[in-house]
Amino acid sequence: MTRATSLQAGTGAPGRASIGVRTLRTDNWWRAPLVTFILLTIWVAYATVRAFSQHAYAATQEHYLSPFTSPCVTASCPAEFRDFGTWFGHFPPFVPLAIVTLPFLLGFRLTCYYYRRTYYRAFWASPPACAVAEPHAKYTGETRFPLILQNLHRYFFLAAGVISLFNTWDVIQAFRPVGHTFGFGLGTIVMLVNATLLWAYTLSCHSCRHIVGGRLRNFSAHPMRYAAWGFVSKLNARHMQLAWTTLATLMLTDGYIALVSSGAFNDPRIVH
Ligand code: FES
Repeated sequence: MTRATSLQAGTGAPGRASIGVRTLRTDNWWRAPLVTFILLTIWVAYATVRAFSQHAYAATQEHYLSPFTSPCVTASCPAEFRDFGTWFGHFPPFVPLAIVTLPFLLGFRLTCYYYRRTYYRAFWASPPACAVAEPHAKYTGETRFPLILQNLHRYFFLAAGVISLFNTWDVIQAFRPVGHTFGFGLGTIVMLVNATLLWAYTLSCHSCRHIVGGRLRNFSAHPMRYAAWGFVSKLNARHMQLAWTTLATLMLTDGYIALVSSGAFNDPRIVH
């Protein structure tokens, strides 16, 4: 494929069948991009407010830390949550406490093959659906800035793996409430489910599948990699579902911790 190619797009492009309407589809093709647009907008609005608010992100007694604030490495965080040290001084208001990881998480999700498909359709209408002409006059694919940066996905995947380790650490800490060597509550379960699904989403990544099983002439000489590739492939088949489920569990986990942290809800303790 020639790089930096600019093609005319839509039904008016040379060589395309000339039809007088935008699409011949008669089903509700607009429903999926519309629902995606609404859900992603709600999620981004929620995550932006929560990540920038510096409010109710940690329940000290229960040792719960919001995934939007992990790892907490600034002097603004309570000392109990600075397990990885204090890398920065106090942050002014409205600066995300997880500034170290948020750009990488954002990059990972934005460059994800599945999300690309969804937001290209829902936000840019490029195209809005199969067999529906896009409104743009030109098409350059992902060959130019900024979309050429989508190629960084494999590196964001590696960063996301490291960040999943931080999430796992937070769950371990949630089994160690203040004053007890072991204990857990409903919030610990919520955090555990969230971290498990985040691992599943991360490992289901197409880049992960390529790293695990790619560049091999045959699998028979690499049984371990074949087994790992089989496992990742099974997860990969659920990548779309995991992409949406983890958005929901991230929101749920953060919301739950916000309620406990602000005193609006008492975390039911299962083992003290
Ligand atoms: Fe979706 Fe890598 S393709 S996270």
